Amino acid sequence: MSVDPMRMPPPYRIKVVEPIPFLTAEQRQQALADAGYNPFNLRADQITVDLLSDSGTGATSAAQEAAAAVGDETYAGARSWFRFRDEVSDLTGYPFILPVHQGRAGERILFSSLLKPGQICISNTHFDTTHANVVLAGAEARDLPCPQAADLDSDEPFKGNIDLDALEEVLKGPDGKRVGLVLMTITNNGLGAQPASIANIAATSELCRRHGVPFFLDAARFAENAWLVSQREPDFRDWTPRQIATHAFGLADGCVVSLKKDGMSPVGGFIGLRDENLHTVCEANLIATEGFSTYGGLSGRDLERLAQGLREVVDPAYLSTRAASTARLAQMINDAGVDTVQPPGIHALYLNAGRLLPHLSPHEFPGHSLVCQLYLEGGIRCAELGSLYLGQMDNEHRLVTPAPFELVRLAIPRRVYTEDHFVYVAAVLAHIAKDPSRVPGHRIVSAPNLLRHFKVRLEPAPPVTGASPVAAAPVADAAADSAVDTAEPAKPQAKKGFLWSRANRKA
Ligand code: F0G
Repeated sequence: MSVDPMRMPPPYRIKVVEPIPFLTAEQRQQALADAGYNPFNLRADQITVDLLSDSGTGATSAAQEAAAAVGDETYAGARSWFRFRDEVSDLTGYPFILPVHQGRAGERILFSSLLKPGQICISNTHFDTTHANVVLAGAEARDLPCPQAADLDSDEPFKGNIDLDALEEVLKGPDGKRVGLVLMTITNNGLGAQPASIANIAATSELCRRHGVPFFLDAARFAENAWLVSQREPDFRDWTPRQIATHAFGLADGCVVSLKKDGMSPVGGFIGLRDENLHTVCEANLIATEGFSTYGGLSGRDLERLAQGLREVVDPAYLSTRAASTARLAQMINDAGVDTVQPPGIHALYLNAGRLLPHLSPHEFPGHSLVCQLYLEGGIRCAELGSLYLGQMDNEHRLVTPAPFELVRLAIPRRVYTEDHFVYVAAVLAHIAKDPSRVPGHRIVSAPNLLRHFKVRLEPAPPVTGASPVAAAPVADAAADSAVDTAEPAKPQAKKGFLWSRANRKA
C-alpha cells in the first residue's frame, strides 16, 4: 500500500499535554472589550486556539528536554555554549557566532553596528521589529518584494523573492551610495510566508558583491524555506533541507536569526558573521546589553534545547508533514469560502479579509475586524496584516494611505495543534463566511506611533446601514457545540474589484 504523502502522519506522538480554555460568548465579548479590541491584550486563559504567532510557541521534544537537563550554567565558556556554537557553525558555515535571547536583539546589535544614520536597508520585506530596528538605527527600511507577490491568488512558487531589477536600479541610481545593507527575509513573513528561491538569493548576493554592499539573511524560518526550495526549485530536488539551508547561508555575508521559530524552542537567536571587525563591534555591544559572548542572555539549558532543535527542524519527515498539514488547513478554509494567499506556505496562512468583507472599507480595518470576529465566535486568536498594521495614519490616527492588502495571519505553532483543532478553525471561518456582512468595522481609540498594532486600542464602529447586528451565533460555547456546521457549503465570496486593494482582484 502506498500512502498519499499529503496524508503521512507527523514523525512524533504526544506525551505531555496542557488544557485549553473554552469561554462562553458573553465571556469572550467581555474579554475582547477589556482588551480594547486588540488581541495582543488578551490573556492565555481566554483563548481556545492561539494562532497569534509561531514564535516561541512550539512544543519541545523529549530529546530537547533531556539535553536541557544536562545544560551547563557556567558563566563563561559553558559546555552548552560550545555545543550550540558548533551546531550553528556547522549549519551556517559562518566563523563568528554571537548568541542572543531573540531575533530582535540580534537585529538591534547588528543594525546599530553596521548601519549609519541616513543609510538605507533594502529587503524583500522587513518584518515589523526588523523595520523598527532599522528606523531606530537612524536608517530607512525599504521593501522591494518581487512583482509576483502582488497577485495573492497566483501559484507562483517563489513570491517571497526580492525584486532584482528594482534592487539593481537602486544600487546603480542616486541612492546607491546610501544602501548600507540588503537583508533577505526567508521565508517572507510579511508577505504570505512565501519562500525565496536559491536562484534569487544567489543573484541578490552577486548584485550586492558587485556594488560592495553587505548582504545578510533574516533566516528565522531557514528550514521551512529550504523545504519549499526542495519542493519547488528543480535544481535542488535531490538536496536535503539541511544542505539547502547551508547553501543559502553560504551565499550571504552573515545572518540574523530568531531561533524561536525554526530553533524549535521558546527563546533564542544568533548573529552569524564572516567579518572579524564587524564581529568585534557586535560582540562589545552584545556583552554590554545581552550578556557575555558565550551565552548572550540564554541559559545553558536554552542553548542545549536549541542545539537539539536545530537538528530536529531539518528532518524531512517533520518538514513535509508540517507543510502538508498547513496545506490541508488552507484547503479546508478555501472550501469554507475564504480565500488565502496562494500557494500556502508553512508557518502561517494569510486570509484575504479584504475580499471576504467587501462591505468594510480599509478605514474600518476589515482584517482587524475579521480577527475580532474569529475571537468572538471561536475564541481563536490571530493577527491582522492590513491597514491597521501597515497603513499610514495622520496624527489623529486616521488612515491616510491604506495597506495594499487586507490580510489576517493564522500562524501555526510547531507540533502543538492537531488536525482536529484545524477542523475547528475552518468551521468557525465557515460560520463567519455564511454571512460576512454582519461583521462590524472598527475604529482606533488610541495608538502609539511606533509598532502601532501591538498597543493600539479600538472599538467597533457603528453597524453599516442594512447589515444585521453584531451578535453572532457563538460556536465555541462548549467543546461540542453543535452550532458548528460544516455540512452546508458556504456561499462563494464575490471576487469584485475594489479600488483600494489589489488583493481583491482575481485574474
Ligand atoms: N524576523 C522575522 C522574519 C520574524 O518573523 C521575527 C519574529 C523576527 C525577525 C524577530 O524575532 O521575535 O525572536 O525577536 N516574528 C514573530 C512572528 C514575532 O510572530 O512572526 P524575535
